[in-house]
Amino acid sequence: MAIPDTMRVVEVEQDGPPEGLRQSTRPVPDVKPSEVLVKVVAVGMNRADCMQRRGKYPPPPGASDLLGLEVSGTVAAVGAAVIGWSVGDPVCALLAGGGYAEYTAVPARQCLPVPTGVDLVDAAALPEVALTVWTNVFDRARLRPGETLLVHGGSSGIGTMAIQLAQALGSRVLVTAGSAEKCAACEALGASMAINYREDDLAGRLRSAAGDLGIDVILDMVAAPYLAMNLSLLNLEGRLVLIALMGGATTEIDLSALMFRRLTVTGSTLRARSVEEKGAVVDAVRERVWPLIEAGRVRPVVHRRVPMDQVIDAHHEMEASTHIGKILLTP
Ligand SMILES: NC(=O)c1ccc[n+]([C@@H]2O[C@H](COP(=O)([O-])OP(=O)(O)OC[C@H]3O[C@@H](n4cnc5c(N)ncnc54)[C@H](OP(=O)(O)O)[C@@H]3O)[C@@H](O)[C@H]2O)c1
Repeated sequence: MAIPDTMRVVEVEQDGPPEGLRQSTRPVPDVKPSEVLVKVVAVGMNRADCMQRRGKYPPPPGASDLLGLEVSGTVAAVGAAVIGWSVGDPVCALLAGGGYAEYTAVPARQCLPVPTGVDLVDAAALPEVALTVWTNVFDRARLRPGETLLVHGGSSGIGTMAIQLAQALGSRVLVTAGSAEKCAACEALGASMAINYREDDLAGRLRSAAGDLGIDVILDMVAAPYLAMNLSLLNLEGRLVLIALMGGATTEIDLSALMFRRLTVTGSTLRARSVEEKGAVVDAVRERVWPLIEAGRVRPVVHRRVPMDQVIDAHHEMEASTHIGKILLTP
């Protein structure tokens, strides 16, 4: 495979609204011994891309300054120490940055094969959501078969994976979402009930939806405004796992529920973890999630494929929150 010296990229020329994004040209990155070079076919967009574009989510030390946390494509080159990957292999990968480009270099530990039956473009919708849901819901919050999971933001990229995975692994799933259309989409994916959080008395409606079984685990991206409600909804030994702070980071709560109902509040971010830590999650996802995808029980939920030269529109669309599932950019 002939690799050019330069490639087209999208850069953040000016922090702020999407109009600060610019098409540009850069050298194709060098490949370190432990990395593979991916010729990018599609980039999965994440809410974090919008935060970074606004200058509010800087890349971790050593990562590319380009946006883009996940891609699919074909392996264009392999580092000298890499085993298990060859030039031409279809691949999808979790990045710390650098996806908005025709080529990206990524540690081999962060690569996954494209699951059988999944289109190469759609595979870009998988790494970030599969790894985030696995490490938070199943690893940190220890969701078990027979338990009930509540997902706030059920129609988000993350939410659409959480619904399918939890349901496939034997849990009942309740969700909140911001419109009737989004609620219907969540129920079609396997949620037993979806509640429009813009209507009145969210806590009361969640409590009656949960019924006698109650709620064992909550996956939340809203944070501060939902904290007291979330704690009040959880069963004895319930677990709340935070993955974002969309509604705010600071609040005051009565801590007694943590003691008397033996609750756990936890959370995590994926991007800042070491390559080895990410590799351990990749291994778990490959073993536990990929077979469910290959069996057709879990699928990437793709809202729209957008050519990279329309990246500004795609950022506006994500910030308008009209999408259900993932938006993919195609270089
Ligand atoms: N910790 C981690 O490792 C990690 C990894 C990946 C993603 N994340 C975070 O997880 C979240 C979801 O990511 P994503 O890429 O899947 O995002 P996404 O597809 O853009 O979805 C976010 C959804 O949240 C809902 N929302 C927005 N503002 C809200 C608010 N104030 N209150 C309630 N719901 C709100 C919107 O749907 P509605 O119309 O229903 O409001 C929106 O569709 C993001 O905040 C992202 O940064 C964290």
